[in-house]
Amino acid sequence: MEKIHAIITGVGGYVPEYVLDNEQLSHMIDTSDEWIMARIGVKERRLLNEEGLGTSYMARKAVKQLLEKTNTDPLTVDAVICSTSTPDYQIPSTASIILGKCGMTNAHAFELSAACSGWLFAMDQAACMIESGRYKKIVIVGADKMSSIIDYTDRQTCPIFGDGAGATLVEPTTEDLGWRDSYLRTDGAGLPFLCIKSGGSASPVSSFALEHKLHLLHQEGRTVFKFAVTNMSDAVGRIAERNNLNKDNIDWVIPHQANVRIIDAVAKRLDMPMEKVMINIQHYGNTSSATLPLALWEYEKQLRKGDNLIFTAFGAGFTWGAAYMKWGYDGA
Ligand code: UT7
Repeated sequence: MEKIHAIITGVGGYVPEYVLDNEQLSHMIDTSDEWIMARIGVKERRLLNEEGLGTSYMARKAVKQLLEKTNTDPLTVDAVICSTSTPDYQIPSTASIILGKCGMTNAHAFELSAACSGWLFAMDQAACMIESGRYKKIVIVGADKMSSIIDYTDRQTCPIFGDGAGATLVEPTTEDLGWRDSYLRTDGAGLPFLCIKSGGSASPVSSFALEHKLHLLHQEGRTVFKFAVTNMSDAVGRIAERNNLNKDNIDWVIPHQANVRIIDAVAKRLDMPMEKVMINIQHYGNTSSATLPLALWEYEKQLRKGDNLIFTAFGAGFTWGAAYMKWGYDGA
């Protein structure tokens, strides 16, 4: 029997209209456009600032666009995986809301939580499901409303993040294309450096927590930075070496968009010219689970069938990894 590979057959995306730029931020906190551009590389970020709208709003916009673009009948979708750290509710899953709003009622839906590495982990999961032969169409959404967990008085953290959603359709092929290899890792020792201290079962929200902003994202930036550079560089190096990939046969590197200096370090590890590295951090910031699918969404037209792509991500946990995919279609 021919081997089944998992390919991405379409990409959808959505970012909110409202723009928070560095000029506006410099009136909210003690910072400047120069500092943020030099140390992070974000010029502006999009925020979902309309009352009552959560992550599923952006996710379903991305999924609807994906289904339209790929002419996919929602009733033919077998599974929906949503990776997010900012679900609409604790219960039920955001994936189930997206499924309902988009009419994918012959599927089952579930959440996958791996912080900023979520879409990468979900893609690996979906590839295993497709390769098993039991699933034909899987929708993966990476979506985060980071503005709902950011402290806009914390100048070290708030300039980094933005809101957005990206969606990909994953299907089987017997062509020599698709998801090839992955190296994914987690180290629970990352907990104190990047976490939300209150709001989960270990420490439910209390008036003390609200007063001390323990329900918002806590990040020890310098430590996270070091782990991100080391682990992402190591992961892309391993994936490249064991698949005989190098700067001459890699067509695109798609890194998590957390800090332009981290992206530079990953590119250097592979000796890749920056024009082969997908970058959109300058106008969206770090949208957590959405950064990788949103990068694909923006660069889709430039992708060609058979292109060699290397993905890499890093997030809370710590979670990180890299993967190799042969792209499945001409973008134009
Ligand atoms: O996706 C999840 C993973 N997250 C990440 O990958 C984020 C990783 N970390 C980072 O990207 C960086 O560590 C930050 C962007 C968070 C911080 O940049 P940094 O170059 O590591 O700055 P730092 O913390 O070493 O601070 C350097 C200086 C400090 O001043 P002093 O103590 O040297 O006088 C900070 O107080 O920069 C100051 N600073 C700022 N200045 C202007 C910190 N934030 C700001 C700011 N504007 N927004």
